Amino acid sequence: AKNEHRFDGRVAIVTGAGRGLGRAHALLLAQRGAKVVVNDLGGSKEGEGVDASPATDAVNEILAAGGVAVADTNNVGSEAGCHALVETAVREFGRIDIVVNNAGISRWAAFPEADAENLERTLDVHLRGTWHTTRAAWPHMEKQGYGRIITTTSTGMLGLPENLAYATAKGALIGFTRSLAVSAAPKGILVNCIAPNAVTRPSESAKKPNIVTDSKMDPELLKAMQTDLVSPLVGYLAHESCTVNGEILVAGAKRFGRWFLGFTQGWLDDTDSMPTIEEVAGHWNEINDLEGFYVPRNLNEWSANFMGHLA
Ligand code: NAI
Repeated sequence: AKNEHRFDGRVAIVTGAGRGLGRAHALLLAQRGAKVVVNDLGGSKEGEGVDASPATDAVNEILAAGGVAVADTNNVGSEAGCHALVETAVREFGRIDIVVNNAGISRWAAFPEADAENLERTLDVHLRGTWHTTRAAWPHMEKQGYGRIITTTSTGMLGLPENLAYATAKGALIGFTRSLAVSAAPKGILVNCIAPNAVTRPSESAKKPNIVTDSKMDPELLKAMQTDLVSPLVGYLAHESCTVNGEILVAGAKRFGRWFLGFTQGWLDDTDSMPTIEEVAGHWNEINDLEGFYVPRNLNEWSANFMGHLA
């Protein structure tokens, strides 16, 4: 049935849900019956300042549509803020089932301008915000034997030298997601990562023309890249029926796909002598040959393949 995925009785936190993608995720979850904590500090896209109105507006929109939500303006860029956010959920709604780690900032800078402050401020929101919010929710999920955690990476990780700290933080979230997923599964908790694509505020600050910035000028493409075209993926990963764990999924412009970490079979030196630089160079094609590549689900699966010849 069309609307069978419901979240009645479930409580969700969506960080950075006052605007952009987070708002769309929060609206969808609330529309399907979840009680939602709409977290948003309300700062600029670079993360300056505070404004309660984005979170309040999103909550009002949910309430007007007959949903249940509360606004929370804690800063997920601080550990205390993350703990206070989870406390809001528990205080207001008595539990926490879903955490959508979505809040993000964007401070365009390349080397050498991208300095320690740029890195720290970016890591604070994207990486530490996800870490601390998830960690604060963890004991509640563990106790109830149920949880759905979603992290937000970016295909920008594939090459954003002008926003290096952002790409770095997004890369770290993949390691966080994959590793936490391993210990989560036995507890009934699933952890997955999304790489969304939509036209939002940060699209305007992009320094380089790309499909997202160009779309600002084309209303049709803008419509084709609406935020709510990503949210169904979040809804699926947040649902009770979902069994996906430790995966990275891409969504945007109505396309949904999987982003995976694969390994080549590689070159195995089966001689008795030490491998040399020259042999590595000489076997480069073999090392990179995609034929027979594999996508391990976890570290054990990788080592069973890569170190399989030692068995
Ligand atoms: P946005 O700027 O429209 O929304 C982000 C929201 O997070 C804002 O309302 C902001 O106030 C809030 N926020 C920022 N720092 C916060 C903090 N410390 N505490 C609480 N709230 C905070 O941006 P958008 O595009 O909706 O981004 C959402 C997520 O999706 C981010 O993690 C972003 O990196 C990611 N993403 C977005 C892409 C896109 O195409 N729009 C592409 C790839 C990733």
